[in-house]
Amino acid sequence: MLNVNVAKRQSQTTTIQILSRNYTVVERTFAMIKPDAVAARNAGKIIDLIESNGFTIVGMEKTKLSKDKAGIFYAVHKERPFYSELVDFVSSGPVVLLALEKEGAIAGWRDLMGATDPLKAAPGTIRKLFGTHVGANATHGSDAPETAQQELALFFPNL
Ligand code: RTP
Ligand code: MG
Repeated sequence: MLNVNVAKRQSQTTTIQILSRNYTVVERTFAMIKPDAVAARNAGKIIDLIESNGFTIVGMEKTKLSKDKAGIFYAVHKERPFYSELVDFVSSGPVVLLALEKEGAIAGWRDLMGATDPLKAAPGTIRKLFGTHVGANATHGSDAPETAQQELALFFPNL
């Protein structure tokens, strides 16, 4: 029988052992270029920044989310006052869905995006460069390994 051990996460990578050999799995995260940035024709510039910062794009799709799917995606915010506004916004126009790979991809992509509120985001970050306000902040990024896994499974079930 094939013996596969998924070993401890060692900071930013996962080691798996198959038949006594260790393999390192590079971390993946889910990213989205939101309707405001796509409508403003900034998707290409954002993709350029993703690649020039060392991420490998392992999945990419331009699509428009249904309200149902947007609601599932942001279900964690269901009780927040801005939930329906958020679901309306993210389903209001085309988005670009991305699966990104890099060592430390989850934290690295959050750093590159900058703070949720573009007005508070550091110079050079994507939200500072391309966001307008907290409700139209150009991009999304998973916030933890568990949410990355859930969001990648939701949008890229075949990866
Ligand atoms: P995201 O999930 O989109 O990557 O953003 P985030 O982790 O930085 O922020 P989160 O707390 O998960 O909030 C999700 C999105 O909700 C909108 N928001 N509006 N009006 C408000 O006070 C408010 N707070 C958050 C933002 O568009 C945020 O990206
Ligand atoms: Mg979030």
